[in-house]
Amino acid sequence: MFAEKELLLVPGPTPIPPQVQRAMMRPVINHRCPAYEELFAGLQEKLKRLFAVNGEVFVFPAAGTGMLEAIVVNFLSPNDPVLMVSIGWFGDRFGEIAERFGVNVTWLKLEWGTAATPEIVAKAMDETKKPFKAVLITHNETSTAVVNPVKDIAKVVKERGALLLVDAVSGLAAMPLPMDEWQIDAVAAASQKALMTPPGIGLVAVREEAWEAVEMAQMPRFYWDFRLARKFQSHNQNPYTPPVTLLYGLDAALDLIFDEGMDAFFERHKRVRDLLRNGIREMGLELFVPDDKIASCSLTAVKVPEGIHGGDLIRQLRNKYRIEVAGGQEHLRGKIIRISHMGYIHESDMLLALGALKSALKDLGWSRNCP
Ligand SMILES: Cc1ncc(COP(=O)(O)O)c(C=O)c1O
Repeated sequence: MFAEKELLLVPGPTPIPPQVQRAMMRPVINHRCPAYEELFAGLQEKLKRLFAVNGEVFVFPAAGTGMLEAIVVNFLSPNDPVLMVSIGWFGDRFGEIAERFGVNVTWLKLEWGTAATPEIVAKAMDETKKPFKAVLITHNETSTAVVNPVKDIAKVVKERGALLLVDAVSGLAAMPLPMDEWQIDAVAAASQKALMTPPGIGLVAVREEAWEAVEMAQMPRFYWDFRLARKFQSHNQNPYTPPVTLLYGLDAALDLIFDEGMDAFFERHKRVRDLLRNGIREMGLELFVPDDKIASCSLTAVKVPEGIHGGDLIRQLRNKYRIEVAGGQEHLRGKIIRISHMGYIHESDMLLALGALKSALKDLGWSRNCP
C-alpha cells in the first residue's frame, strides 16, 4: 500500500528533504573502518560549525530526552544546587530529570506563554543566595512556542559564575544560538527537528571552557559518558555502534543548511513564521503568543476558537486535509494547536496550512470573522 501524501507539521519529526532521504539509501558500512572515520570526521567539523563551538559535539543514538539526561549526569553531582528556569512542559521535564538524579533543584517556573528575562533570572539567583552550580533552561519551549532570550540570560548567569546548560532540541538551527560567542556551556539537540533528519540522533555540544566541569562531575554514567565519547571521537570513532544510516542523512542535511547559508536558514524560518502569524491574524484567530519578540521561529501555537475542541480540529486536519499538526499539552490540551515550521518548510507549506485550517474550522461550524 502506498502511503498517502501528507503534510507533516508537527514539531518533530519534521519533513525530510529528498537529498537527505537519498543519502540514507547508501549501504550500511562497518563503523570500524576508514570510510566511517572519514564520514565521522567530516560530520564533527560540520557540527562544530552548526553549534558555533570550538569544543566537542557528541553524537548519540538517542532521542532528545536522552540528551537532557546526558547533560545532567555529565555536568552535575548529587545535591548540586541548580536553578531550573521553566516556561513550559519541556522545562519541567529537564528539571524533573535533574531531580531524579538527586540534584538540588530550585524551580523558577514562569507562566506558560511567557519568556524568561535576564532580570528575572538574576533576581532568582541573587534572592535565594544559593551557590548555584548551573542554570538549566529551554531555548525554544515547544509546548508554548516561546523562545527564551538565551543570549542576555547567559550574561547574568556568567556574571554569577554558574554553568549554563541549554535544551535547544527544538530551537537549534531554527534560531541563532552561537555557543562560544554567548558563552553557553552545553547545548542539547536532536535530529528530528530543524535538522531535517529522521528521529534517532541526539546531539550535545560542550564548550571547551566547560570541560573541566565534566571531569569533576560525580554522577555515575556509562552510556552517556562524555569522557569515553571524547576519547573515541579523537580518532573519529564512537564507543558503541552509531546509527550509520541516520548519520549519512544528518551529514546531507548539514550540507543543505550550509549551502543555503546559516543566516539565510534562520531568515527563512522567521519569514515563514511571520507569514503564518499574519495569516492567522487575518483569519480572525488568536495567537497563543501575541508578542512577536518572544514568538518562536520553530513553531506557532494558535488558540482553538470557543466551542471547538482542539482534538476535533486536529482530526479534521488529518482525515480530510492530510495535514498533521500537534495539540496542546497539560492544561493547554484541546485549547491550542501547534503548527511547526522547522527545517524543510517553506512559504507554500504555510499557505496550505492556512487554507486547510480555515476549511477545517468551517467544517466544524466556525464562522466568526471567516471571510
Ligand atoms: C524543547 C524540547 N526538549 C526536549 C524534547 C524531547 O525530545 P524527544 O522527544 O526526542 O525525546 C522535545 C521534543 O519535542 C522538545 O521540543
